[in-house]
Amino acid sequence: MASPDEMSPDNDLQKTLKFYNEGKPLFTRAVLEDLDRHLEKGENKVVIRDYLDNEHVYDLEIPDWCADSVDTVRIKYNGIETLTTLHPDENKVSWGTRTMMITYGSHYKYDNITVEKVRTAFERQWEAWKQSKTCKHLTQQLEKLTPNQVAAITKIVGFALGPVACLDVKFADGIGPSAANALTQHMALLTIAKILEQQNGGRKVKCYTQDPVNKGVGNESLKTLGITSLDDPKGFLEVDDKTLVVSIHPNVPVRQVIADLQYPAAMLWNTVEEPVKREWEQKIMDDGDVTWIFPYSTDPVSSRVVRMTEQYDQLPFDDADDWFGKLTWYVMKHRDA
Ligand SMILES: C[S@@+](CC[C@H](N)C(=O)[O-])C[C@H]1O[C@@H](n2cnc3c(N)ncnc32)[C@H](O)[C@@H]1O
Repeated sequence: MASPDEMSPDNDLQKTLKFYNEGKPLFTRAVLEDLDRHLEKGENKVVIRDYLDNEHVYDLEIPDWCADSVDTVRIKYNGIETLTTLHPDENKVSWGTRTMMITYGSHYKYDNITVEKVRTAFERQWEAWKQSKTCKHLTQQLEKLTPNQVAAITKIVGFALGPVACLDVKFADGIGPSAANALTQHMALLTIAKILEQQNGGRKVKCYTQDPVNKGVGNESLKTLGITSLDDPKGFLEVDDKTLVVSIHPNVPVRQVIADLQYPAAMLWNTVEEPVKREWEQKIMDDGDVTWIFPYSTDPVSSRVVRMTEQYDQLPFDDADDWFGKLTWYVMKHRDA
């Protein structure tokens, strides 16, 4: 039996850091495939092993204790910062050593939104996109890829490209900032695929996306545009060494998952900057309660992500129209060697 000290959170944290520095993946294809199989088959429960190989059982049906307030099963991915940042009050790590776990939430509902309405919004925004400086820059950047780099990409998987069905009656054409970003980010996917196809003698480049917010009418609309939407975690499983991964401000640590699962042919994602150690921040709520804010973003850059990007040529993405934020192209180096 372990001594109390061996079982302490601090001891687990040290083990986690040791394994991480030795290269043990936080996220594995085997766990994601198993989880995907359980979800696909509609099983009631799944067992997920944590970073120290302890088994945890999760309900894949919404449990009674939260059935009044939620309607969706979600996968929570905990990056290395979540696993190694002690909560200041509790002196423990919020999720222990769990890298992947099941949580429950509510699915966003788009009342009165139809595929036709999304298509109409898409066609309006398409005009703005086609004439934009950002689209022009994107086209020029793709023209700089070498024939080998182009040939290396056979599909595109987009993560977290946002809610295409989030049309807003406050705007005459229904396209508020959220929909404008989401629609344009999906258009970029289609534009990239088209250019790569042209540059590669007409070979089809398939487009996939994973963003749970588009479940329902959003995904149906994307299908009519030639984009195949995948449920979490199928998008991650779809990524291979011939994939271009596009990920834009995700609510999950996409870069850490991909760095562990599979180095793709290329990425267009949030610019990787050297990670900085951050501290929890205290926030006083309107009711006077004090709460702590976790100091890292939802898609933090880890040392492993930095190491991964060293394998890629880098080119800043020029988003003159401010639909994407600060992104960089990463294209695998050794293809031309
Ligand atoms: C901050 S929003 C960014 C949306 C859009 N890319 C933008 O720039 O406006 C985060 C997005 O991550 C998506 N997201 C949450 N969980 C996800 C998951 N497991 N896989 C892919 N996307 C996810 C959310 O639904 C949401 O659309």
